[in-house]
Amino acid sequence: MKIVTVLGARPQFIKAAPVSRVLRQRHTELIIHTGQHYDANMSDIFFEELNIPKPDYHLGVGSGSHGKQTGEMLIKIEEVVLKEKPDYVLVYGDTNSTLAGALVAAKLHIPVLHVEAGLRSFNKKMPEEINRIMTDHVSEFLFCPTETAVENLKKENITRNVINVGDVMYDAVLYNQELAQQKSTILADLGLQPKQYHLITIHRAENTDDIHNMKNILEAFSQIDEMKVWPIHPRTKHKLAEYGLDAASIPNLKIIEPVGYLDMLTLESNAKKIITDSGGVQKEAYFMKVPCVTVREQTEWVETLESEANILVGTDVEKIVEAVKKAVNPVYANVFGDGKAAEKIVAAIEQV
Ligand code: UD1
Ligand code: UDP
Repeated sequence: MKIVTVLGARPQFIKAAPVSRVLRQRHTELIIHTGQHYDANMSDIFFEELNIPKPDYHLGVGSGSHGKQTGEMLIKIEEVVLKEKPDYVLVYGDTNSTLAGALVAAKLHIPVLHVEAGLRSFNKKMPEEINRIMTDHVSEFLFCPTETAVENLKKENITRNVINVGDVMYDAVLYNQELAQQKSTILADLGLQPKQYHLITIHRAENTDDIHNMKNILEAFSQIDEMKVWPIHPRTKHKLAEYGLDAASIPNLKIIEPVGYLDMLTLESNAKKIITDSGGVQKEAYFMKVPCVTVREQTEWVETLESEANILVGTDVEKIVEAVKKAVNPVYANVFGDGKAAEKIVAAIEQV
């Protein structure tokens, strides 16, 4: 079998690593990197750390408005797919790279494999929600991470080839956890003590693109006295500069460049709490049993909200501060599979 995988953004490299490993044992995989993320610490570092084979095609699309970015991806992905004539096109998650890969393949009648299918926030103002809905509706195989995702698809009358395989990000965490312990020196490098700091990540457009929300978020951080470490996403860094907001002066806050996956796993597992608006980071907090505070109005990962393992707070200053201070005692359930999602995905395609 010949499979073309389309990747472009940080979380997709992490999701692809376990699947590529299994896929390449028995099949031919070619990787297209759209170039949506291009800084070394947003892209190359993950290929190196996770041993993802170098992309066969690098499209160099880069940043831009949704239309420009997605449009350029469509043109360039189509050229590769027409040339390579794969049996399947494999896409992950809900970014513009996901949508572009899925649309190209569907129009060329090449079956689309969607990993992380069926997620919904029910907020169509999120670009990711549009990307997921469109991708799910043109996909031939829909690999869901949870039962909730399967149910979401059922409500949209998508039932054929819908399989709950579990979450590929759980596969990735299990595979790399020990390696992170052996290799990462980030706690010592930053002078951090285990469970004596909170970890922050913020990058969602609904937060970064609204100055009022960003002001609230920074105000909340300044009211949390404990040590905080924040590997800052380039989108957020650019927006803070544009707004003239100064996060660097917040006491006990270490703002650092985005880190590699092994350092991130280390920062996550040793954090007292995780404060985030990231999809992947909410799940990783759950896998590692670290209480999470999510700076969003909705989450696709509703399972994490049970027993306050994750608390949704939006951008209200008081709610953020209270949730971070709150003593919680979460019960963690086994809702993201058994860490063998990649095996199940490849086995499902082989059964056709
Ligand atoms: C994208 C995804 C989002 C995902 C996130 C993961 C879409 C619509 N959004 O958001 O779902 O959660 O990736 O991180 O696909 N930039 C750099 N260097 C880079 C990459 C980006 O400086 O290597 C800056 C640019 O100013 C760019 C901005 O970040 O305009 C946003 O990048 P973009 O890829 O458009 O969206 P993300 O916010 O990264
Ligand atoms: N991540 C990382 N370094 C960072 C921030 C995040 O390796 O500095 C990892 C994180 O562990 C998770 C993934 O990137 O696996 C999440 O990606 P992101 O938050 O960019 O996107 P989302 O999951 O919200 O789409």
